Amino acid sequence: MRGERRLVDAAATEAAGAQLAASLRAGDVVTLSGDLGAGKTSFARGVLAALGLAEEAPSPTFAIVQPYEPPEVRLDVLHIDLYRLDDPAEVEELGLDEARHDAALLVEWPERAGPGYWPDALALHIAIEQDGARRLTWAAPDAWDGRWPR
Ligand SMILES: Nc1ncnc2c1ncn2[C@@H]1O[C@H](COP(=O)(O)OP(=O)(O)OP(=O)(O)O)[C@@H](O)[C@H]1O
Ligand SMILES: [Mg+2]
Repeated sequence: MRGERRLVDAAATEAAGAQLAASLRAGDVVTLSGDLGAGKTSFARGVLAALGLAEEAPSPTFAIVQPYEPPEVRLDVLHIDLYRLDDPAEVEELGLDEARHDAALLVEWPERAGPGYWPDALALHIAIEQDGARRLTWAAPDAWDGRWPR
């Protein structure tokens, strides 16, 4: 199912992430695409805060993979930023297929892994509107029925 929602400010972006957190579970992959500075990390911060993270999540741009696990969050989450990946083949070295068994994956810059790398992902896209607000659009596979949108 496809849909869209306007995010009037950064708080709205984080609130949308918090809504997603309520239905997130191990094995899920959520991809976050959009231009530089669109709000992908803001969305992921909203997810992580709603899962219980007390401090503000750092951007994983340099770490590439930032893991979170209970008790700091309700479930295992890998916050991933593939921006610095030079070659799509490098994504295999991150061990994400294995990690997915017991963690949810939030992936910024998923296109760096190559087209269609996560065909079953909830694919979110954030676009910057002319007035500076953001537009969240999504393509949700059937497995997400009833879980997103919510
Ligand atoms: N709905 C919104 N309206 C206006 N500003 C927003 C909105 N959502 C997020 N922002 C702002 O956009 C800026 C960039 O956000 P963020 O770092 O999350 O982007 P990003 O997509 O992760 O960037 P990068 O491509 O560098 O990883 C921040 O200043 C954030 O507060
Ligand atoms: Mg980011």
